[in-house]
Amino acid sequence: SRLRIVTFSTIDNFVSRLQNAKNIIVLTGAGVSTSLGIPDFRSSEGFYSRVKYLGLNDPQDVFNYELFKKEPSIFYSIANMILPPENVYSPLHSFIKMLSDKGKLLRNYTQNIDNLESYAHIPADKLVHCHGSFASATCVTCDWKVPGTKIFKNIRNIELPICPNCYKERVKMMELYNPYVSESVDLNTNSKKFSAKEVETISNIKSFGVLKPDITFFGEPLPERFFQCLMTDMHKCDLLICIGTSLKVAPVSDIVNMIPAQVPQVLINRDPVRHADFDLSLLGFCDDIAGLVTKRCGWEFMHKDWEKLSGG
Ligand code: OAD
Repeated sequence: SRLRIVTFSTIDNFVSRLQNAKNIIVLTGAGVSTSLGIPDFRSSEGFYSRVKYLGLNDPQDVFNYELFKKEPSIFYSIANMILPPENVYSPLHSFIKMLSDKGKLLRNYTQNIDNLESYAHIPADKLVHCHGSFASATCVTCDWKVPGTKIFKNIRNIELPICPNCYKERVKMMELYNPYVSESVDLNTNSKKFSAKEVETISNIKSFGVLKPDITFFGEPLPERFFQCLMTDMHKCDLLICIGTSLKVAPVSDIVNMIPAQVPQVLINRDPVRHADFDLSLLGFCDDIAGLVTKRCGWEFMHKDWEKLSGG
């Protein structure tokens, strides 16, 4: 844990730091979108409890890259549940936009894959999608990229989106190997002799040519931009605010340990985060807290769905 150098005890300390800050890092998670009806991941009503019926050892395995390569239909059976809504954003997103408009936002590191930051007009250069997003999708076989919207229909229909490049070959493979692709067939005991190459082909056939949204699965590296930005931002940052995240997923959760010790760190979250050493934890609904803090700073921000938010 971080050697505590700054000790904030009150919201007033935070307010004055906010007023003077020039390079704020805002680290966000699923909690910034729950007021829009989008579930977070780990709360009792969250996404992981909703996919328990799949019977996976760990519900997080819906985002396991190795499993996706073996059995992409598992992810695509629930992908519709995480498909982002269009053109909505929360007051918290508007709060971040306000920090950007005031020239105070160094970067918003978001773990969210819903891309709602763009609807709030947070500038793209101020954003790092740490876990990627649905903005694009890539073929797991040939790396062909398509705009994410191209696979939305498949996702809604609970079907596998197939890469246009690989489509013909996949059909051919399916015709050849289809009886052996079914899960019930154990390739080792099958009477027909397959070469090692064929066995590999059959094992891979389920994901052959399948398009995967460019969200970072467990077992995949984070986007290069995450590391590039963080390397310089960590030295420029003069205030870190973590909002709506349980900070349970590395390497994003390591940001709190990478920021120099003299930089204050504030948590705005419904539940406490006990494994990190924050200078101040403001516990509650983030939209309300952002409104309150904004008011205390003597600022105000507009939010499209609220008359005018100038206080919580
Ligand atoms: P979690 O579900 O782990 O944590 C969300 C946090 O937000 C919880 O601590 C809640 O208490 C809090 N919260 C919920 N609603 C809130 C509200 N209205 N105001 C304030 N706080 C609220 O979600 P993340 O930390 O974002 O990966 O999870 C990190 C990553 O784990 C995700 O990016 C996802 C997942 O595996 C991928 O999608 C690849």
